[in-house]
Amino acid sequence: MRMYDVIASKRDGKELTTEEIYEFIEGYVKGDIPDYQVSALLMAIYFKGMSEREILDLTTAMAQSGDQVDLSPIEGIKVDKHSTGGVGDKTTLIVAPIVAANGVKVAKMSGRGLGHTGGTVDKLESIPGFRTDLNQEEFFDVVKRTGISVIGQSGNLTPADKKLYALRDVTATVESIPLIASSIMSKKLAAGSDCILLDVKTGSGAFMKTVERSIELAEEMVKLGENAGRKTCALITDMDVPLGNNIGNSLEVIEAVNTLKGQGPADLTHEILYLAANMMELAGLGDEESCLAKAQAVIDDGSALKCLIEMVKAQGGDASVIEDTDNFEKAKFSHEVKAPVAGYIATMNTEGCGIASVLLGAGRETLNSPIDMAAGIIIARKTGDYVEAGETIATLYANDESLFEKAEKKYLESIAFSDEKVIRNPLLYAKVSKDGTKRMA
Ligand code: URA
Repeated sequence: MRMYDVIASKRDGKELTTEEIYEFIEGYVKGDIPDYQVSALLMAIYFKGMSEREILDLTTAMAQSGDQVDLSPIEGIKVDKHSTGGVGDKTTLIVAPIVAANGVKVAKMSGRGLGHTGGTVDKLESIPGFRTDLNQEEFFDVVKRTGISVIGQSGNLTPADKKLYALRDVTATVESIPLIASSIMSKKLAAGSDCILLDVKTGSGAFMKTVERSIELAEEMVKLGENAGRKTCALITDMDVPLGNNIGNSLEVIEAVNTLKGQGPADLTHEILYLAANMMELAGLGDEESCLAKAQAVIDDGSALKCLIEMVKAQGGDASVIEDTDNFEKAKFSHEVKAPVAGYIATMNTEGCGIASVLLGAGRETLNSPIDMAAGIIIARKTGDYVEAGETIATLYANDESLFEKAEKKYLESIAFSDEKVIRNPLLYAKVSKDGTKRMA
């Protein structure tokens, strides 16, 4: 295979053969094919797209490019979840214990935050002592004992995706459905669970800015999962407004704990019940309606929170911060953001709100920059709410007071006010399964 010919084929809109796709992935991971040729191929894929068969081959080749986890030593059905990323998205911390409290195992590898989006691994590491770097034996042991374990992605899982994602990030080729679908699904297939629930975010804080594009991506990913023999379903959920009220690592753990106690914000509570119910439905616990009741029941009887506490202890964390969230170390400084005018909050540029939180130290600009676990934002007023001029719309938290000025500016730039009453977008737009796409709003 000549890489030049592969690039030219795709440039001219032709279908790549299975052999060409496998050789390209293998050669790139080995370092035999240079970044400049792969960049050209990615751009050709971006413009010309890929057939179903090509996407399946690309996903399989990427999944097979490194370690593939065999979860069979853990008894029972294992269910995984993936969110395409957002701001204030602490759902894994809530739905994984709910599902585990219902007897379904969750052996999950999660990522760190990058750019304006947060990551579950960083949030969990805000719990003092919590280890996300368990080896496979420890990981399996925690799942067997507590029903749930969440760790960072292992070193050699889908090395092809690591290299390709980094290259896409700097060559303006992230927003391509074949490339996003193969990137996400290769990791999910290699991680080994029997069932996969995809939470595809849509709106100003998401990769996919429209519901139609989100459905297209979800349909592609569901096909890939089902083709690989995994029960797969996707929910299209709103990311046009930050989810819940808290943004930032320990602040999000606190909100997750409150939600597991039945005291979470309405939007977050609604969404996590549906995510958890759909994970349970995939695992064969009944239809969506009965699983919604099962999800609510383990919040009401406290068993979901108990599952989270057990996982935290099993992974070396100080569970006293979960038992009483006042024990979390707080940021030294806080600053209230006031509404500059009276009116309805018309829109929140969610990416902008995420960037404001990064400016306070809650996120990282590059993969290795340090983060401040206590920094972040607690939102007091959201899209659709009426506010008086001078009313507090959010409180910023940081350990360095000098960070407030830039973060406040960014936050205020992200909020638009209107004299007209504003109706907030729905939280759930659609469910995509092997049986088709069902609109929920
Ligand atoms: N998340 C991923 O893992 N990959 C993408 O391409 C986009 C979002």
